[in-house]
Amino acid sequence: MNSVDVAGYVVRGIRADEWERVKELRLVALRDPAAPLAFLETYEKAAAEEDGFWRNRAAMAGEGATTARQFVAEAADGSWVGSVTVLMEQPDSVDWSGQPVERRQGHVVGVFVQDGHRGHGLIQALLAAAAAWTWEQKAERVRLWVHEDNVRAQAAYKRAGFVPTGLVVPFPTDETASELEFALDR
Ligand SMILES: CC(C)(COP(=O)(O)OP(=O)(O)OC[C@H]1O[C@@H](n2cnc3c(N)ncnc32)[C@H](O)[C@@H]1OP(=O)(O)O)[C@@H](O)C(=O)NCCC(=O)NCCS
Repeated sequence: MNSVDVAGYVVRGIRADEWERVKELRLVALRDPAAPLAFLETYEKAAAEEDGFWRNRAAMAGEGATTARQFVAEAADGSWVGSVTVLMEQPDSVDWSGQPVERRQGHVVGVFVQDGHRGHGLIQALLAAAAAWTWEQKAERVRLWVHEDNVRAQAAYKRAGFVPTGLVVPFPTDETASELEFALDR
């Protein structure tokens, strides 16, 4: 997939040289009121990272990368207003929550559409791009984790065809809450 037009926006993969924009959008996402439910990284930690961290993050998920890929939604004025990243997971590894990974699959993280640009279907186009890239990598499944109280994100994932797998783990920053695994099979 090169790029897709959605309601006046363009959804496309990023390039490694766009690391400053990767940083800028991530810091916007981490300041969103939903960030404590949505992201494990904090604004303070991300804001303190050196340029090399962002250069590396963009390079790892840039054009031609095969272990991760970041997709963004670009508004007509060129600003970035949404993003998802897919990380390829390999069998016989262990994920961040300690769960064994049993197959080659895509893991969607960093899901964000900026307030003011929500409700236009951008999240559906971003998730479709993430799934298409995962299939190109010869993986048959894409999955993600969502907080039990993040009902808007859960509704977006269900509309995209993701279903709860029944796997539930404690939320890392509040072990009284749960994260639910959702997955989409090819
Ligand atoms: C999650 C997110 C990407 C969804 O994108 P969006 O453009 O807001 O999505 P939509 O407006 O299409 O809403 C998704 C669904 O939630 C529903 N919805 C909208 N507002 C809602 C609300 N306040 N409560 C519950 N559901 C809501 C919509 O009706 C839609 O359902 P439908 O497709 O069945 O009609 C976006 O809201 C966001 O970035 N949130 C903050 C970060 C976040 O939570 N990321 C996910 C981490 S797992």
